[in-house]
Amino acid sequence: MIKTVKTSPYNDQKMGTAGLRRKSKVVMQPNYVENFMQSIFNTIGSLNGKTFLLGGDGRFYNDIAIQKIIKMAAANGVSKLIIGQNGYVSTPAGSRIILKNKLNGGFVLSASHNPGGINGDFGIKYANETGGQIPSAVSDRIYQETQKISEYKIFETDDIKLDKIGRQKLGDMEIEIIDPLNDYVEMMENIFDFSALKKLFKSGFTMKFDAMNAVTGPYAVRIFEDILGAAKGSVINAKPLPDFGGLHPDPNLLYAKELLAIMNADNAPDFGAANDGDGDRNMILGKKFFVSPSDSLAILTDYYPIIPAYKNGIFGVAKSAATSTAVSRVAKAHDIGYYEVPTGWKYFVNLMDSNRITICGEESFGTGSSHIREKDGIWAVLFWLSIIAETGMSVEEIALDHWKKYGRSYYLRYDFDGLDTKAADSLMADLENKLPTLVGNHYGEYKITQARPFVYNDPVDHSSTKNGLIINFENGSRIVYRLSGTGSSGATLRVYLENYNRTDLKEDPHEMLEDLLEIAMEIAEITARTGKQHADVIT
Ligand code: G1P
Ligand code: ZN
Repeated sequence: MIKTVKTSPYNDQKMGTAGLRRKSKVVMQPNYVENFMQSIFNTIGSLNGKTFLLGGDGRFYNDIAIQKIIKMAAANGVSKLIIGQNGYVSTPAGSRIILKNKLNGGFVLSASHNPGGINGDFGIKYANETGGQIPSAVSDRIYQETQKISEYKIFETDDIKLDKIGRQKLGDMEIEIIDPLNDYVEMMENIFDFSALKKLFKSGFTMKFDAMNAVTGPYAVRIFEDILGAAKGSVINAKPLPDFGGLHPDPNLLYAKELLAIMNADNAPDFGAANDGDGDRNMILGKKFFVSPSDSLAILTDYYPIIPAYKNGIFGVAKSAATSTAVSRVAKAHDIGYYEVPTGWKYFVNLMDSNRITICGEESFGTGSSHIREKDGIWAVLFWLSIIAETGMSVEEIALDHWKKYGRSYYLRYDFDGLDTKAADSLMADLENKLPTLVGNHYGEYKITQARPFVYNDPVDHSSTKNGLIINFENGSRIVYRLSGTGSSGATLRVYLENYNRTDLKEDPHEMLEDLLEIAMEIAEITARTGKQHADVIT
């Protein structure tokens, strides 16, 4: 019943910032999933005695890919698979299940916040026993394996039914279908003070959570409505759909339009939040108010003592280099460890495992803590609700209070999409070469004090990673340039701008960053090299 099938390599199976992410139609090519999975299995080596988690965000092709992976796992000698009911598991819940059950790793079928459907994207994220995504050294080995793959093994059988909780066997492999919500909900109950949150909702507090027709709907309904007592209907777009109902499940000001309209209305609820396709990203909104993710990280860190799980102290905090420096000031005030890492959650994993940090985050709507090894959208929402319950302040008051105490990092990210890969690569290479000559240059009142590639030396595994270019100015402003590692075609240049201000706290970030944007465009010759006068997306 185990069949060995001849195959030949695809040359594009290199993982990016977060797993393998491609157009659905690319992934649907014959043997595409099979090649990739067999390469992972070959890289792991003996699978006897090993147990993995399997599930996805329910997007188009989830149902097909999951069956292939189940049958290949059985054929390759995996001892057991734990699978989310109907093939669903959010990225944070998957990490929790791996850690709680001490699994050898897991596979989450998702292209995260990218659109789904036959014309959208599909992806596979591979986590190891840390509950976090594998380090680059391992993904490099898997890539090499994909380049020489010549056959794969698969179990010949009917599709496995995934709708009923319980155990079954496929050959020698055990399959356990679980409720993907239980462990996650239990963990949240242990981190936060649920009775305080119940009181908040009992007092008439209102919220809208936009699950964007993706995987967090059922989690959010259970936690916010069923357990905490938020009004029915507080969770919108709650049913996971294969094409996300046409939504682009990225929780930001551009794509979470429905939620934004609700929060900008005169009768807006007290609090708004959205999660992405697989539930690891979050956006936080107040009445007519947006919290920048970099500020959110700083604010959550500042309030750690009010959360039961952190009240006895936290180890430290980390952010990706591109994220604003707001949290660095909080770390200093609380006298806790502080780290800057390359973009991508996997770089936080060693810091968490070695007790160097507890809380971490990225500007790309990601915040989380060492309760798991992925970012966690619902965790961030519960944290914000806890701050509101404790302080009685509104979202806007909390942010303003923070800026009064620490000053404000005006911050925006400008994305230049769909660039020719070669043009983007040479823009970055030429810019890197000229960085040393920029130091000391003046652009109006902006004087460059430092210009360098960001190089991260991991204190735990001693690997070294170069990611992006950073220009610092005398007045505390910064420009960071980097190329996206999650796109499914072409290149995206990301330009991150930050302007620190201690006194003007309620200005428009776009205006506060106008001059810096011009400088950033000029230094990197963006228009000349890409033909773009303006960024395609600003978040
Ligand atoms: C993007 C974000 C990054 C995040 C990743 C996965 O990666 O910028 O912070 O970790 O998605 O959600 P990028 O496309 O910039 O490589
Ligand atoms: Zn995601």
